[in-house]
Amino acid sequence: MSPTSSPAEPISTHDYSAPLRVWHWGNALLVLGQLVTILFIKIIVKPKALVPEFQAAAARAGGDLTKEQGMNIARLMSERLWDWHIGIGLALAAFWLYWLVLQLTAPAGQRFGARLRAAAQRYRLAPPAARPDAQHTLLVKLSYLAFYLFISVMVLTGLALTWADDVAWLHGIEHKVKEIHNVTMYLVIAFVATHIVGVVWSEITKDRGLISRMVSGEARKSS
Ligand code: HEM
Ligand code: HEM
Repeated sequence: MSPTSSPAEPISTHDYSAPLRVWHWGNALLVLGQLVTILFIKIIVKPKALVPEFQAAAARAGGDLTKEQGMNIARLMSERLWDWHIGIGLALAAFWLYWLVLQLTAPAGQRFGARLRAAAQRYRLAPPAARPDAQHTLLVKLSYLAFYLFISVMVLTGLALTWADDVAWLHGIEHKVKEIHNVTMYLVIAFVATHIVGVVWSEITKDRGLISRMVSGEARKSS
């Protein structure tokens, strides 16, 4: 992830601004939080699948719980879990807006678009020996571009779903929007898994200190 570095004097060129670091870790926690809510709703708790167990528990205690009553309890549990998803989702939407504002207000060289263009130019101009490194840097930046697209889709579709019951035209497209929201989740998961493996791999192989620089922002400058 960094260009050339020698064992004697490791050189890093990454310089992460404080606002980008705040965004990165806040956004990472919220994305993981969203995935955890889905894990609970769809896999761990699965409220609707618990209805027969509610009925069995009621019968053991000498009561009688109809399927409909069981479904009502399951619906309450579902709503509680979705409330968490929507709450974290709104925070994620705020972070997304913060990222957009950063892109409009940060010094030109710190904006993602400028860093992506610089990586593309470095790749185009790289001499053959430096090409593999330049190509890797460009591919990593393209993966970030993909993530920024995915998170934009997640936030916009998530907001549409949040207000789908209150706005008639949103209600009309709710089913389609839900499908897009659902499918994009798998792209987000693929990014997160590849990204974490990638940065940890870089950290333990050729770019020591990469992760701590995303925490502290300190970068040794090449001359
Ligand atoms: C849901 C989890 C995460 C998401 C969505 C995420 C997203 C991102 C994005 C979009 C960037 C690019 C920032 C930019 O240059 O514009 C980035 C960079 C980075 N992330 Fe993450 N991240 C996540 C988790 C993590 C974790 C757990 C670590 C540490 C183990 C980490 C370490 C880094 C580092 C070191 C960079 C800079 C890499 C480079 O310069 O190419 N990230 N992350
Ligand atoms: C990485 C981020 C996110 C992931 C992985 C995620 C995942 C999901 C999944 C898998 C569903 C179920 C769709 C279905 O039933 O077919 C869902 C529903 C939903 N999501 Fe997200 N989501 C994310 C971000 C957001 C955001 C930013 C919001 C905005 C507030 C949001 C709001 C909603 C709402 C309102 C629903 C529908 C809940 C319901 O059916 O009652 N999500 N999400």
